Amino acid sequence: MVSSLSMTVDLGGIKMRNPLNTASGTFGNGVQFEGFYDVGATLGAITCKGVAAEPWDGNPAPRLAELPSAIMNSVGLQNPGVHGFVGRYGAYLAGLREKGCQVICQIAGHSIDEYVRATELFEELAPFASGFEVNISCPNIAAGGAAMGATPRAAAQVMAAVRPHTSRPVVVKMAPHDVAEIGRALESEGADALSLINTIPGMAIDINTRKSRLARATAGVSGPAIHAIAVRMVWECAQAVSIPLCGIGGVASGADAAEMILAGATAVSIGTANLYDPTCAPRILAELEEWAEDQGVTDINELIGAFEC
Ligand SMILES: Cc1cc2nc3c(=O)[nH]c(=O)nc-3n(C[C@H](O)[C@H](O)[C@H](O)COP(=O)(O)O)c2cc1C
Repeated sequence: MVSSLSMTVDLGGIKMRNPLNTASGTFGNGVQFEGFYDVGATLGAITCKGVAAEPWDGNPAPRLAELPSAIMNSVGLQNPGVHGFVGRYGAYLAGLREKGCQVICQIAGHSIDEYVRATELFEELAPFASGFEVNISCPNIAAGGAAMGATPRAAAQVMAAVRPHTSRPVVVKMAPHDVAEIGRALESEGADALSLINTIPGMAIDINTRKSRLARATAGVSGPAIHAIAVRMVWECAQAVSIPLCGIGGVASGADAAEMILAGATAVSIGTANLYDPTCAPRILAELEEWAEDQGVTDINELIGAFEC
């Protein structure tokens, strides 16, 4: 039987063939996964690694630690700058667009001026970008990152500064706190969509050396252990704003993605699961489709926010 289920969703003007996206920093820039499946023919969108106007080195190693059901990272937004990024990945990403997979470029900065400069450069050099994601939530950098999204006022200032520099859709990547209040502030400054959550700051101590297991004292926790927290935050944010959300956090199965959708997410990103199961996206998509069919709907949009309290 041919399925009549429509999986198409609209993430603030980014028209996705299905709700599956990838979480920034966990999927390279797509090409690294081509050996596992046809990225452009499978995903609704990919979100690229955070990129600043100029190259950043990131933090010293070790930058990753494994925990039960989670990992911790303190990569610190290592990136080649917009020119380097476009030179290395532009042709590949343009090819993804041709295959019907949307490309979301992530913008990083240490200051409002740097966010604006990166947006200007992307606008000029990246015609392949379907839209942008502004990262105001990285917990692993000393200036910018999470500090830019720590309060509604700070988050709104970044959004207000970036907005005039692009007419393409702007998604804002939020930190795991005050998501209702900060979401409302971002919506009022013209954000087209919100994505949440970024990693949750944590610590892992080597009890023999008494030092951190990573080079920095704190790092971002991600993976299945944070899923329930992320679903709760998506639900809280969905009740506060009317722009669409992309749910992120510990998604490793179709059921996890379905929970995000029921909580109010229009799209769902796969993050850490890409790292320990690089073939997971086609399986998660098939499981999500099967669930939607079992729910008796003909359009996945009917299930967005369908959680009953
Ligand atoms: C190694 C690594 C690198 C990451 N890099 C970024 C990044 O560049 N920008 C960003 O917004 N989030 C970054 N994240 C956070 C993820 O995009 C995602 O928000 C978080 O991991 C939660 O989702 P998950 O539990 O499915 O991994 C990174 C996460 C990991 C594990």
